[in-house]
Amino acid sequence: MDSVVVVLFMLLNSLVMFSNGGITSKYVRKFEGTPDMPLDSDVFQVPCGYNAPQQVHITQGDVEGKAVIVSWVTQEATGSNTVLYWRENSCKKLQAHGKSKTYKFYNYTSGHIHHCFIRNLEYDTKYHYVVGVGQTERQFWFFTPPEIGPDVPYTFGLIGDLGQTFDSNLTLTHYENNPTKGQTLLYVGDLSYADTYPNHDNTRWDSWGRFVERSTAYQPWIWTAGNHELDFAPKLGEAKPFKPFTRRYRTPHKASGSTESFWYSIKRGPAYIIVLASYSAYGKYTPQYTWLEEEFPKVNRTETPWLIVLMHSPWYNSYDYHYMEGETMRVMYEPWFVKNKVDVVFAGHVHAYERSERISNIAYNVVNGLCSPVKDQSAPVYITIGDGGNLEGLATNMTEPQPKYSAFREASFGHAIFSIKNRTHAYYGWHRNQDGYAVKGDSMWFHNRVWHPIDKSSSSGS
Ligand SMILES: *[C@@H]1O[C@H](CO)[C@@H](O)[C@H](O)[C@H]1NC(C)=O
Ligand SMILES: *[C@@H]1O[C@H](CO)[C@@H](O)[C@H](O)[C@H]1NC(C)=O
Ligand SMILES: *[C@@H]1O[C@H](CO)[C@@H](O)[C@H](O)[C@H]1NC(C)=O
Ligand SMILES: *[C@@H]1O[C@H](CO)[C@@H](O)[C@H](O)[C@H]1NC(C)=O
Ligand SMILES: *[C@@H]1O[C@H](CO)[C@@H](O)[C@H](O)[C@H]1NC(C)=O
Ligand SMILES: [Fe+2]
Repeated sequence: MDSVVVVLFMLLNSLVMFSNGGITSKYVRKFEGTPDMPLDSDVFQVPCGYNAPQQVHITQGDVEGKAVIVSWVTQEATGSNTVLYWRENSCKKLQAHGKSKTYKFYNYTSGHIHHCFIRNLEYDTKYHYVVGVGQTERQFWFFTPPEIGPDVPYTFGLIGDLGQTFDSNLTLTHYENNPTKGQTLLYVGDLSYADTYPNHDNTRWDSWGRFVERSTAYQPWIWTAGNHELDFAPKLGEAKPFKPFTRRYRTPHKASGSTESFWYSIKRGPAYIIVLASYSAYGKYTPQYTWLEEEFPKVNRTETPWLIVLMHSPWYNSYDYHYMEGETMRVMYEPWFVKNKVDVVFAGHVHAYERSERISNIAYNVVNGLCSPVKDQSAPVYITIGDGGNLEGLATNMTEPQPKYSAFREASFGHAIFSIKNRTHAYYGWHRNQDGYAVKGDSMWFHNRVWHPIDKSSSSGS
């Protein structure tokens, strides 16, 4: 009797082993993409009051997490550059002063775009802040991260390729309502999709800023530049790439020694986050290459155990869309990722979801023919989360059969949560929009590559 149970158990076990790796979700979804929400939608409403600040958003302002960049737009007049801020339960109001500018794009002229650094904040503290000082004042709040350290729990949200459709609104709503609350959002590129409109209609940059304000004003969004940020339009006389994006969205790149806002790094709680630029030069001798080469040795895994990389174009992607677009950057940088034991790489660009096994493909040297990905416990897991829900719709066609390196893939819109518990464990879950807020379509316990580099990845897709 006992032996029958054992045999049964072994049989079941081997079935699980065989089906392990390479799941293409059978989840049935509705296919039709949704259009952008009309400009008179509730989510795009201009806040009332004369010259009221709109499109309020914050991001980290230094390497350590003690500074915040507050940005907002005033439409009618320059207005005040000041941010008033104070610790919760403190009546001592502090002030910081920023700068504002307008820009032109073809025949569009922007409002006054304000950026203001707030520095020397205390860790793990709730701050309130006010913009629009002296005119229509609007008040928001944010939490600073805990002091950098190996065992401070911290939870990141993940969204990519959001756009401004009805599906985008669902994705953002699901992120906000997820019971595992994201404290900071890692955004993997392609923001407004304004460039899909005639003349790259930049009023769609404004509407996007108003749409996401309900989250971006209260928690930092860490920006990655995507191809839809290029706004490269020489026929319109707009030949400087990234113009609207750079005027509207600041990053703390200078603090990490970067010379462009598109690649930089930050520490936040237990994590060291490196943001890379898929659309800036990355070959040998380029500024990004030189910067990244010097960046890896700075990562101290005793201080920040979790090494996370963000980029727009994925290196490992088994959908037909954007297939192999990330290949040239992979060839340049993958050996560094393996050598430095990056824990996880998040990318967007492909409008679907995919998670890889821990694999690398770094043995090839032109003549040896070793060009297939192999299991590698020093390699990161690659996650494509470009499924925010923009107007281009889902990427549904996949390369068949599913490559061995692909652990789970599904063409549904959604968001993900990466929840760091301590130096050894992080819990990861991907949530498709069609399910309830707490339901995970794919999940996995991450074991830190330096502190707990065990093989067993205990993942599950459903
Ligand atoms: C910009 O030009 C387009 C046509 O080229 C026109 O439809 C649009 O109204 C113009 N916008 C402004 C703000 O002048
Ligand atoms: C967007 O989502 C919010 C929150 O769920 C909802 O209140 C709002 O009506 C939605 N707007 C549109 C245009 O779908
Ligand atoms: C790494 O960080 C730890 C903890 O903060 C510190 O004690 C150690 O000196 C650092 N190592 C280096 C090489 O800076
Ligand atoms: C997706 O696959 C279908 C069936 O093979 C094909 O007809 C269609 O053109 C493909 N679409 C794209 C965008 O590759
Ligand atoms: C780290 O977190 C995991 C998951 O919550 C837990 O099982 C483990 O015991 C923790 N490790 C330490 C040293 O607290
Ligand atoms: Fe993209």
